[in-house]
Amino acid sequence: MNVGKIDLKNPLILASGILGSTGSSLNRIAKLGAGAVVTKSIGATPREGHPGPVLIKTDTGFLNAIGLPNPSYKYFIEELNDFNRYCPLIISVFGANRSELVKILKNLEEYADAFELNLSCPNVKGYGMDIGKDPIFVENITREIKKITNKPLWVKLTSNVEDITKIGVAAENGGADAVVAINTVKGLGIDTESGYPLLGNVYGGLSGRMIRPIGLISVYSLYKKLKIPIIGVGGIENYKDAIEYFMAGARAVEIGSGVYNNINIFNEIKSELDLYLNKKGIKLEELIGLAHRRETEECNNQKSEEREQRY
Ligand code: SIN
Repeated sequence: MNVGKIDLKNPLILASGILGSTGSSLNRIAKLGAGAVVTKSIGATPREGHPGPVLIKTDTGFLNAIGLPNPSYKYFIEELNDFNRYCPLIISVFGANRSELVKILKNLEEYADAFELNLSCPNVKGYGMDIGKDPIFVENITREIKKITNKPLWVKLTSNVEDITKIGVAAENGGADAVVAINTVKGLGIDTESGYPLLGNVYGGLSGRMIRPIGLISVYSLYKKLKIPIIGVGGIENYKDAIEYFMAGARAVEIGSGVYNNINIFNEIKSELDLYLNKKGIKLEELIGLAHRRETEECNNQKSEEREQRY
């Protein structure tokens, strides 16, 4: 299936930040049934990331402020050389400006089936959401990047804004081939014995089951405004969660926190989704955006009821 100008093996993709820092961990997930894999976000210079703790398990998921640690594009190439190309590879990249991104993209282009531009990390100043919440910046940087690379470009959006569709439209106007929604939701945890914030960075990004409704409304709203494909992400743990995203309008989904609890999640969701589609006698394509068509039916039914009552 072709989504965002790449041929996925199936619509279930490993999200950035989970087992995406080494060639061997990417190989492992590729072999375990992912339709494509996304790397940890890679930048222009080496970064150690934030002081610990960087990841906290909450009652419903995870709170993280890792701080975009990465060896830089130069050293990440070693890991990319180890990738077995068992499924498409999407390289997640971040940068503060055009010149950082030019260096990264030019050097990683030969390894990538597509790039995912991280404009949504909620916990690093000058990067991610800090710059990605401004629609004008998003449109301009997307346009600039499209000039640098021939590879498909996906833009990962933040939901930590008043209206995510403004950023989605900006990415589309800039020439993005798809948008990915959503990244983690900004959050905080506090240790009740000491009063210290749980994360070394104080605040971070929440992932897991709890954010699924936020991911869904984001995808649902984006679907109403965009022509380019939407890849849904946030809180997917089973096939029904994935189906909700398809019905909201996603053409594919990414799975992150769900992998921590279940390393076989890709193969499991794939078989359960196939069973569901077979039982209903429908194709995946028919699920995409179904909730919108139902909404229209509902509106039409209401209108004809009103008409009947009037006459
Ligand atoms: C991090 O490295 O802090 C998380 C990255 C992200 O949320 O995009």
